[in-house]
Amino acid sequence: MRPIRPIRSRVFQLSLLTSAIFGLAACAVVATLYFSSVEAVTRQIEATIDAEIKGLSEQYRQFGTAGLIRSVQNRTRQRARPGAIYLVVDSGFVPLAGNIAAWPQEEPDARRWVTFSFRTGSAADNRPGAGGEARGRMFRLPGGYFLLVGHDLREQQRVTARTRGTLILAGIVAVLFAVASGGLLSWLVLRRLDGINRTSREIMAGDLARRVPETGRGDEFDRLAQSLNAMLSQNEKLFVGMREVAENLAHDLRSPLGRVRQRLERQLSDSLSAGEKSALAMEALDETDRMLATFNAILSIAQADSGAPKRSFEPVDLRILLQDVADLYEPLAEEAGARLTLALPGRPVVVRGNRDMLFQACANLLDNAIKYGVESAGPAQPSAIDLDLDAAGESARFAVRDRGAGLHGEALERARERFYRADASRTTGGSGLGLALVDAVARLHDGTLTLAAAGPGLRATVQLPLDKNAPAQETTGGAGAEPVGATGADPV
Ligand SMILES: Nc1ncnc2c1ncn2[C@@H]1O[C@H](COP(=O)(O)OP(=O)(O)OP(=O)(O)O)[C@@H](O)[C@H]1O
Ligand SMILES: [Mg+2]
Repeated sequence: MRPIRPIRSRVFQLSLLTSAIFGLAACAVVATLYFSSVEAVTRQIEATIDAEIKGLSEQYRQFGTAGLIRSVQNRTRQRARPGAIYLVVDSGFVPLAGNIAAWPQEEPDARRWVTFSFRTGSAADNRPGAGGEARGRMFRLPGGYFLLVGHDLREQQRVTARTRGTLILAGIVAVLFAVASGGLLSWLVLRRLDGINRTSREIMAGDLARRVPETGRGDEFDRLAQSLNAMLSQNEKLFVGMREVAENLAHDLRSPLGRVRQRLERQLSDSLSAGEKSALAMEALDETDRMLATFNAILSIAQADSGAPKRSFEPVDLRILLQDVADLYEPLAEEAGARLTLALPGRPVVVRGNRDMLFQACANLLDNAIKYGVESAGPAQPSAIDLDLDAAGESARFAVRDRGAGLHGEALERARERFYRADASRTTGGSGLGLALVDAVARLHDGTLTLAAAGPGLRATVQLPLDKNAPAQETTGGAGAEPVGATGADPV
C-alpha cells in the first residue's frame, strides 16, 4: 500500500480549499472596508472644499476679484486649513494669489471634480516646491480670471498606501497560515488514519489480535477506532470459532469414521457368518447416523447464526409447543427413571419465531436433563424434571430443571461452547453441540439462554420476547407478579 503523502492528501486539499474560501471572504470584507473608507475620506475632502468655495464665493460677491484675491492671500498666509490649496490666475494663467506654483494642466470646468498634479510654492516666489496630487474644482471668473480650490491628497495617499501595504502583508500571512494550518490538520488526521492503515495491514498479515490504537481523548477518531475494534474483535471471535469448529469436527469425526472403516473391513473377511456381518453393518449404520446428527447440529447452528430463518418467523404458542415436546420426552424420561412435570399458564404465550428450531431447543434441554440429570434411587423414588413456562412483562420464559449433579465453575461457563463436554459426561454419547444450538436459537429469536446451578441439578432458562401483535396473552405485568407457572402444574 502506498504511504499517504500529506501534501497530496485529500484532507490537506480540503483544508486548503476551506482556508482559501475563508481567506477570499476575509479579503472581500477588508477590500470593501478599504474602498468605502477611501470613498468616505474623498467625500469628506470634497465637503471641506465645497465649504471653502462657499466662503470664497461670498467674498467674491461682496468685494469682487480684489476681495477674492485678498481672501485667498489671507487663507494661505494663515495656514489655518491644513491641506487646502488655492490659486487665482489671470487670463494668461499667471498666478495672482495661492499656495501652488502654477495652474495645472486641466481645463477649468466648474461642473466637475478633478484630480490634478501640483507643485507647492506661493504665487509670489518662483521656486516650485514638492509636488503631489490634489483634488478640487476650477472656476472661470468674469474678467478672465480663474480660481482653483482643492485639497492636497498626499496625506490621504500616504495612509492609503500604508493600509494597502498592511493588507497585502495580511494576505501573505493569511496564505502562509492557511498552508500551515492545512498541513498541520492533514498531519494530525493522517497520523490517526495511518494508525488504522497500519493495523489493517498487520491484521491482513495474520496478526488477528491487533487493534486500532486509541488516544483516550474520546474524539471521533477514538469512536471510529472503538467501532473498528469492536468489529475486529467480533470477526476474530467468529474466525477463531470457525477454526475451532473445523478442528473439533475433524477431531470428532475421526474416531467414528475409523470405526466405520474397521467394521467395513471386517465385513470383507470370509470367516464371518451372515449374522455377524449384518451386526457389523448395523453398528456402522449407527456410527454414520451419529455423524450425520453431528453434521445436522452444526448446520442448524450455522443456519441460526446466519439469521436467515428470521424471514419465515411466525407466531408460535409456546404452550402448545412445550406440550408437544413433553409428550415426546415423557416416555424417555420415565425409562431413565425420572418424572417429567410440565407447568403451563392458562392462556397462550405467543412469540414470533421458527417453530421447528424452538422445538429442537426445548428437546435438547430435556435430552440433557434426561442424560445428565437423573439420579434415581429406583422406580419407587423417581428423579424429577420440571419444564415450566411463564410470561412476565415483555418476555416469555421456559425453563428445564433437573435434580442431577448439575454444572459448576468452568463447566457451567463453557457448556454453551460448540463441542464442549464436561469431563463427567465423556462416557455418555453426545457431541457437545446441544446447548450451542439452544444458545444460537435463543439469540436468533433475540432471546437468551441462562444456565444456573439449581442445587441440586441444573436449571436452563430460555427467555424470548413476546409477540407484541399477538391477541391477549398470558402476562403478569412485570416484576412482583405471581408466577404464572404455578397456576397449572400438571404431571405429563
Ligand atoms: N442438565 C445437565 N446436567 C449436567 N451437565 C449438563 C447438563 N446439560 C449439559 N451438561 C453438560 O454440558 C455439556 C454440553 O451439553 P450439550 O447438550 O451441548 O452437549 P452434549 O449433551 O454432550 O451433546 P449433544 O447434546 O450434542 O448430544 C454436556 O456434555 C454436559 O457435560
Ligand atoms: Mg445435549
